[in-house]
Amino acid sequence: MTPESQDRPSWVLHRDLHRRYPVITHGSGINLYDDAGKCYLDGSSGALVANLGHGRHDMAAAMAEQAGQVAYAHTLTFTTPALEELAREVSTLVGDSVPWYTYPTSGGSEAVETAVKLVRHIALLRGATGRHRILSFRPSYHGNSLGALAVSGDPVRQAPYRPLLGPAFVHAPPISENCSGIGADGSCPCLIAVEDTLREYGADTFAAVILEPVSGSARSGFTPHEGFVASLTRLAHRNGLLVVADEVMTGFGRTGKLLAMDHHGVRPDLFTAAKGLSGGYAPMGAVIVSGALYQELLGGPGSFLNGFTYSGNPVSARVAAKALQIVRDENLVARSADMGSRLHQGLLELAARHPVIRRVRGRGLMQGIVLEQISGIAARVVESAFEHGLILYHGHGAAEGGDGEHVLIGPPLIIDVDGIHRLLDLLDQALGSIR
Ligand SMILES: Cc1ncc(COP(=O)(O)O)c(C=O)c1O
Repeated sequence: MTPESQDRPSWVLHRDLHRRYPVITHGSGINLYDDAGKCYLDGSSGALVANLGHGRHDMAAAMAEQAGQVAYAHTLTFTTPALEELAREVSTLVGDSVPWYTYPTSGGSEAVETAVKLVRHIALLRGATGRHRILSFRPSYHGNSLGALAVSGDPVRQAPYRPLLGPAFVHAPPISENCSGIGADGSCPCLIAVEDTLREYGADTFAAVILEPVSGSARSGFTPHEGFVASLTRLAHRNGLLVVADEVMTGFGRTGKLLAMDHHGVRPDLFTAAKGLSGGYAPMGAVIVSGALYQELLGGPGSFLNGFTYSGNPVSARVAAKALQIVRDENLVARSADMGSRLHQGLLELAARHPVIRRVRGRGLMQGIVLEQISGIAARVVESAFEHGLILYHGHGAAEGGDGEHVLIGPPLIIDVDGIHRLLDLLDQALGSIR
């Protein structure tokens, strides 16, 4: 069948060639509209990206202004006011009085891969040439490109590409949702499992551990138990590993704190960001490095053999700088915490009436619902919601550690109380008519 012979011709190699994708023509606030006039409440901000909402003229103006000044200058040769402004804004937000340094990328997978290369680079600077492994957790999702997929603890997504994935990526067993918690000795069974994994491969062969401080699509809204991340950080540092927080989905307000690591009272050595960093108005990602690591890098040759053509693209950088100003000026972090707790409460009420929801978990406007252990149930919930005009994000992690299939809910951070009620009403209707 050629495109011309289809009822609506398309030459796009879509993700699913058998699906007929609605055509989105515009968006406004928490809503998207298709060419048939149907309104969708964007209950997942796409893939938890559109934190500022859709159709913002202030974002469009910042973009247009930058494109009219200069749209491209290679970071091999130049810096730009937009990139400098973004990095200053990040440091101000994250660092308080301590500086943090931004290495720009074009998205989350690039950020994760850059972080992996950077921790290896630092190991080499330290003379620790044997440190080449990266520890992460099952289940987790750290990205789609081969390196980031190898980091991900996602056996289903990895399966077709396993022969292409490097052996340096080691996955610790799931952090238990029902862990007995950190004991008086500062440890717990989950931490002992990490120690065992380090011992099995040799702790001095690891450059870093990477984790999602609040899990995204692989484990919708799961948050490690209190004290775990702090103890893991101590364990990592004792053994010479750096701690990388993957804040691609969580960073800059999504979970009701600036960083999801703030729920654990810990700042990592470095972290990745993307998605909410630019609110979806332009492709943007970053690796953000602590001042202490920066000093170490400065003590070496100073150069890092890495870079992408679009790293630090001035339009993307301007967009991200503007997005962070809006997060600050509109108090979107506090709003995410407030609206998130209303959403969480409403989901608990829905769970009481719809037994298909087994558990509600998450922080701020990043909430997950864990469903009855019925194969294909998450897709049915997402599909039913879609028919009712509500967009949800299908989790894809393996059902490990007691998890069932799950769905992520994460509307734009600008959502108000009426929006939360509308979302919950639509979800209620959708759950009531699952086929
Ligand atoms: C935690 C996490 N890391 C990395 C990525 C990959 O980011 P991107 O899709 O921008 O490459 C994602 C995307 O969903 C993510 O949720």
